[in-house]
Amino acid sequence: MHSLTSLHTFGLSSSGNQVISIDSFDMLQKQFMNVTTDPFCILGGGSNTVFLDDYQGTIFKMALKGIQIEESDSEYLVTAAAGENWHQLVEYCMQEGINGLENLALIPGTVGAAPIQNIGAYGVEIERFIRRVDYFDLHAHSVKSLDREHCQFDYRDSIFKSQLAGQFIITQVVLALPKNWMAVTQYGELQNLTAPTPMDIFNKVVALRKSKLPDPIKIGNAGSFFKNPIIDKKLFTELQQEWPEIPNYPIDASNVKVPAAWLIDRLGFKGKKNGGIGCHPNQALVLFNDGTGTGEQLLQFARSIKSAVSHTFSINLENEVRLMDSQGLVTL
Ligand code: FAD
Ligand code: EPU
Repeated sequence: MHSLTSLHTFGLSSSGNQVISIDSFDMLQKQFMNVTTDPFCILGGGSNTVFLDDYQGTIFKMALKGIQIEESDSEYLVTAAAGENWHQLVEYCMQEGINGLENLALIPGTVGAAPIQNIGAYGVEIERFIRRVDYFDLHAHSVKSLDREHCQFDYRDSIFKSQLAGQFIITQVVLALPKNWMAVTQYGELQNLTAPTPMDIFNKVVALRKSKLPDPIKIGNAGSFFKNPIIDKKLFTELQQEWPEIPNYPIDASNVKVPAAWLIDRLGFKGKKNGGIGCHPNQALVLFNDGTGTGEQLLQFARSIKSAVSHTFSINLENEVRLMDSQGLVTL
């Protein structure tokens, strides 16, 4: 058995039958050329995956490396392999004078996982820059490509979480970054920046994130535990009558996004603990492991939050993190 504790940022004590690092395309092909019925799990940096229990299948850790840059008159095309670290890619691009990714600085994890939940922060989602995602199709046993239009990107969502779930291994991502850079500063505290350079935005995002989110190296966590719910305007208007201060972000004519952190905070969970699992005192949407937490305590705590939010606000919270038990994915 291999310890999985350091392979996922939540850091629960768990182990797996086998961990295989995939560091070349040949190796990937060899491993997946034949149909396998044995349970397996693809893992990047483990920052959106929680191993609640000992995992009975094989874990394939994506370690494909490589970055290539091409340019035309109007844009840079950055091709990065799935096992590259996301934040290091952001830094590398900025050192090369390629801007646009600064709002997405300091998001943990790998390049290959980034399109799956369409990573987003501070007013930008990665879909804005995706030109193409290349993946190994586990049914056809060949490499396929999807351009952005076919990835069905949405808030924390893509085709990789729906139609293609379980059928693909992302091998590389191609990003298109326009040379005509435009600052995105409409989110929260970024609005205070005047005529910022890309590096000003990068520095501000890094500082904000460090002040709000616990560092997984010091305290086990997986970022936002739940997604921010998108609710219809009728329900929102009803809620607003009781809680006029409820924060909200309009989505379209009939839907509104509300911060799950506010709902959880309002119910008094912030700073509370269940055994070794806690709701972070600075950010109610982040559940953490003080080093002694167990999968059972986490499930119990997350379910009690979900049920209280449903009871008080009639809102169904969905977990953003991927919860894995001994057999595979579980839902709350
Ligand atoms: P993993 O947890 O290893 O994997 C996530 C899922 O993708 C799993 O289902 C896995 O099977 C699958 N997967 C991974 N790689 C591949 C591949 N190559 N092919 C096929 N499937 C694959 N997210 C945001 O969007 N915005 C944020 O601001 C943000 N902040 C965070 C802050 C902290 C402190 C933490 C801990 C997490 C945060 N996250 C955020 C969540 C996380 O960083 C992202 O979801 C990230 O993309 C996960 O990358 P990973 O490589 O660690 O994925
Ligand atoms: N709030 C509270 N209590 C808290 C924290 C926040 O009431 O303890 C309220 C405040 O009204 C605040 C609002 O919630 O204005 C939003 O908070 P914040 O700006 O911290 O963002 P978030 O909605 O909690 C989302 C993403 C983060 C991303 C930030 C910045 C989701 C699920 N989470 O968090 O992504 O970094 O915005 O863009 O969409 C992640 O996905 O893991 C993640 C960290």
